[in-house]
Amino acid sequence: MAGNFFRKKSIDLIMRDRQAGFSDAEAHEHGLRRVLTVKDLTLMGIAAVIGAGIFSTIGNASFNGGPGVSILFVITAITCGFSALCYAEFASRIPVAGSAYTYAYASFGELVAWIIGWDLLMEYAIGNIAVAISWSEYFTNLLEGFNIHIPAYLTMDYLSAAKAHTQVTAAGTDLSTITEKVKYAAQAWNTAPGSGNFKFIADLPALGIVFLITYLVYIGIRETKKATNAMVILKVGVVIGVILLGFFYVTPANWDPFLPNGFEGMMKGVSGVFFAYIGFDAISTTAEECKDPQRDLPKGMIYSLIICTVLYILVALVLTGMVNYKYLQVEDPLAYVFKSVGLEKISYVISISAVIATASVLLIFQMGQPRIWMSMSRDGLLPKKFSSIHPKYKTPWFATLVTGCVVAIPALFMNLTEVTDLTSIGTLFAFVLVCGGVLLLPEEPVTDENRKRFRIPYVNSRYIVPLLVIVLFVIFRQEILGLFTYNGDWHVYKDKLPYFLFLIAAIVMSVLSFTKNLSLIPVLGLLSCLYLMTELGYTNWLRFLIWLALGLIIYFTYGYHKSRLNVKNAV
Ligand code: ALA
Repeated sequence: MAGNFFRKKSIDLIMRDRQAGFSDAEAHEHGLRRVLTVKDLTLMGIAAVIGAGIFSTIGNASFNGGPGVSILFVITAITCGFSALCYAEFASRIPVAGSAYTYAYASFGELVAWIIGWDLLMEYAIGNIAVAISWSEYFTNLLEGFNIHIPAYLTMDYLSAAKAHTQVTAAGTDLSTITEKVKYAAQAWNTAPGSGNFKFIADLPALGIVFLITYLVYIGIRETKKATNAMVILKVGVVIGVILLGFFYVTPANWDPFLPNGFEGMMKGVSGVFFAYIGFDAISTTAEECKDPQRDLPKGMIYSLIICTVLYILVALVLTGMVNYKYLQVEDPLAYVFKSVGLEKISYVISISAVIATASVLLIFQMGQPRIWMSMSRDGLLPKKFSSIHPKYKTPWFATLVTGCVVAIPALFMNLTEVTDLTSIGTLFAFVLVCGGVLLLPEEPVTDENRKRFRIPYVNSRYIVPLLVIVLFVIFRQEILGLFTYNGDWHVYKDKLPYFLFLIAAIVMSVLSFTKNLSLIPVLGLLSCLYLMTELGYTNWLRFLIWLALGLIIYFTYGYHKSRLNVKNAV
C-alpha cells in the first residue's frame, strides 16, 4: 500500500481520539483542565507574543527602516490578522491540542501534516533559541549595570565574535566607525581561550535559562496560569510605561525623513518585526484546556493580536522619535533609548522587565513544543516515547527533555539574526498552510450545535483578488519587469527565485478565486504571508528547504510506516 501520503485524519477521528482520553490526560496533568477563559487566553497570547521582538529585534528593524518601521508593524499585523482568523476557524472547528499540525492532518492529509509538524519546530524550538539569545543579552547588560562582569567570550556566539574581530582588524587604528557592540564582540575574540581560529566562545547564560525553564516545564508547574498572568501584567505595564514616558522625550525631527531608506529599507525589517508577532497562534495548543474553545480561542487570539499591534506601533514611534534611527542597531533598544536621554534608572527597570518578559515567552514555547510532538507521537509519526507521561510529574517528560536539548545546545553557538530569520520563514510557511487549509475545509451545515462557533466571515474573492493582483502588478510594474531583466550574471537570479514563486502563486490564486469563488480572508492571508516570505532572501529559503528535505527523509523512512493510519497498523 505505497503512495498513500495524503491519507487524512478525519475530524471525526480526531474528536474520537480526544474523547478516548488521549488528550484529556494531558490537560489534567497540567492542572489546567477546562479552566481557561477568554481573559486567560488573551493574557497567554500576549505572554507568548511580547518578548524578544519588541525588546530586541525591533532595534535592527528600526535601524534599517527608520521611523517608517511603524508602517511595517501595521502591514505585518494585517498579515497576522488574516492568519489569526484562519487559525480561529480551525481552532473552533477542531478544538484539540496540536495546533496547525492537527489542522493540516484533517485538511491536507498526513504528508503535509508531517511537514507542518516538522516546520513548527522552527517556530517553537528555533524561535526559542532566538529568545534565549536575546534573554542572555539583556541579562548580561543588566549584570554589567550592577558591576558584575561575565567574560565577554561566555556571552555570545563564535560567529559574531569572529566577524567583529575581522572588522576591527580591517579598521586598523581608525575605530570611529566601529560600534560599541562590535568592539565588545572583538574583545570576546581576543580574550577567549584557544588559539588561532579555535577559540572557546559560547553563550552560557542562554544555555542556563533554557535549562532552568526546561526544568520548570518538566516538573509541570501548576502555577503556570497564575505565573503567566503576573508576568503579562508586568510586561504590558512596562511597555505602556515606555510609551507614556517616552513620548515626553520624543524629538519630532527624528521622524523626518519617515522612510530614510525607502520601502526596501523598511522591508529589511520583515523578519524582526514578524518575529515580534509570533506567538498568538501558540494558544491554539491549549484547546483542550479551554472552558469553551470554540468561542473563546478565536477571541483570545484576536484580542491578543489587537492589543500587541497597538502597543507595538506606539513603541516603534517612541523609539524612533527619542533618538535618531541610526543609533538603534543595538540588542537592547528600549533600555538604550532611555539611557541616551539620561534616564539610566528607567533603563534598568526596562532591562529587568525584558529579562522577565522574554523568560515568559520561553516558558510558553517550551511547553508548546512537547505538546505538538506528543500529538505527532500519538499518531505514530514519532516514536512512542515522545508521548510518554512522567509517572510523578505527569508531564511529557521525554519530549520536554528533548526540546530542552534542541534549544539549549544551539543557543550556545548561534547568532540572533540567523535564528530570527529561520523562525520567521518557518512560521510564515505554517501560516501559509493554515490559510490554505481553511480553503480546503469541507462546508459544514449550520446546526443548533455549531451555531455558536466562530466562522470566518465569507466574502467572495471572485473579483476582488484578481483586481487587487492586477492593481498591484501595475503599481509595482517597474520592480516586476526588473525581475525579468538579465544583467549578464545568472547568480542574481537565485535571489529573485522567491519573487518568481510569489508571482506564480498570485496568478494561480487569482484564477482559483475567480473560478471557485474562494473565501477572501484565507486567500489574502496566504498571499500576504507568502509575500513576507519572499522578502527573507535566498539564503533563508535555501536553509528552510534543506530543513524540509531533512524532515521528508525522516517521514519516508519512519513516520509513513509507523503511522496509525497505515493499514498494517490498523486494528
Ligand atoms: N513574539 C515572540 C517574541 O518576540 C516570539 O519573543
